[in-house]
Amino acid sequence: MTEFPVEPYRIKSIERIRKVSRSDRERLIKEARFNIFKIRAEDIYIDFLTDSGTSAMSDSQWAGLLTGDESYAGCRNYFHFEETARSITGFKYIIPVHQGRAAEHMMFSTLIKPGDKIPSNNHFDTTRANIEYCGAEAADLVIAEGKSPSVDHPFKGNIDTDILEDFIKVNGPENIPFGMLTITNNSGGGQPVSLENIKKTSEILRGHGIPFILDACRYAENCYFIKQREKGQSNRSVKDIAREVFSYADGCTMSAKKDGLANIGGFIGTNDNGLHEKVTNAMILVEGFRTYGGLAGRDLEAVARGLEEALDEDYLAHRVNQIKSFGDLLIDAGIPIVTPTGGHAVFVDATALLPEFPREHYPGWALSVALYREGGIRGCEIGGIVFGKKGKDGREVYPPLELVRLAVPRRVYTESHFRYAASTFKKIAENKSVVRGLKIAYEPKYLRHFTVEFDEL
Ligand code: F0G
Repeated sequence: MTEFPVEPYRIKSIERIRKVSRSDRERLIKEARFNIFKIRAEDIYIDFLTDSGTSAMSDSQWAGLLTGDESYAGCRNYFHFEETARSITGFKYIIPVHQGRAAEHMMFSTLIKPGDKIPSNNHFDTTRANIEYCGAEAADLVIAEGKSPSVDHPFKGNIDTDILEDFIKVNGPENIPFGMLTITNNSGGGQPVSLENIKKTSEILRGHGIPFILDACRYAENCYFIKQREKGQSNRSVKDIAREVFSYADGCTMSAKKDGLANIGGFIGTNDNGLHEKVTNAMILVEGFRTYGGLAGRDLEAVARGLEEALDEDYLAHRVNQIKSFGDLLIDAGIPIVTPTGGHAVFVDATALLPEFPREHYPGWALSVALYREGGIRGCEIGGIVFGKKGKDGREVYPPLELVRLAVPRRVYTESHFRYAASTFKKIAENKSVVRGLKIAYEPKYLRHFTVEFDEL
């Protein structure tokens, strides 16, 4: 590998993007009440809002769309989809759904009773929300290193297995319908989980008769990290590592919008006949019949092909190195980031960049506003607005970290886009007065980041 990542693909079709003028950006962000979710995507120059559903499909995937069989039941693309997902995960049943959160909803509403507790390294927002919606509690048990932006550790996504053991003792296995691991750990900075930690977690949970479910959205990136960083794994194929990872689990929820390299899609994998039967019946009301699960036949085909492509090790090497190289460009520009860089995004540490900026003026969110105004770039705050909560006295309680996530769509941006982003950050770091404090003018009761509005101070 050269010292910079070289794409193992070339560009056959392009999508025009444009940078709207500085005065238009000023106006647009103001009209959006300083909420970057409310800006039209066409008015964004480089969009790092998410890596989910934003991948560029390959020529093979596009060609696959034309082979879509749109029969209601038993379309041929379902069988390709099932065969591919089963060959990767080994699960007996593969149930298609339209995206990851639908998998969560279908599985959790079948397995959880009110008052239950679900441990994980870190639950993603929709995972947590779906658990809480069932009246249960979602517990984050990531290792201490995973909570610190700058501590070096190869697998900062690991769960603390001692705390997991205690958690089971205190709550009782009868109140834990399943335990989870998110691979890679999105809410914890896209950090990977080691094979050893996955195996140990499985032993602990299964030892207490508790099923083990993987949130597998970014499993391929996670398995690539295992190959790169874990002792004794470097000579194995990523696919072989993935088979071992899934063999320790009893089921998975999967958003194919990430490591399925598709724009929509997902699945539930399970070995449990009872769960399979209940979900198959329940999903007819909301997702659709068992063999399409809210997806068109052509989408099932795009996912089947995307799942295979995401295991290509040239692709994965480029993907992981692209994120690392983006992180290095930011470090060179004097921007503090969460290190080591994880799988799908670079997380900028807004507190370290703006140490004087009061928490109650939302430094991470303010930085994301400045990023748009200065460069037409969209990133997403993962801090006081996304995770802040009102305490009992009505005052805001802030999460420990104030980050801005720059999630990188797969196979979409090139080295020059990252250089441009790093130079925009450099300008902001050299003139921090462009980051202006914010005061909330409107907020809804739940998931406020999507609709919150601000006044600028
Ligand atoms: N689990 C994880 C770890 C995720 O990152 C996501 C989505 C989901 C589940 C839900 O999947 O979007 O297909 O319904 N993450 C996106 C993100 C939205 O931007 O990180 P979905």
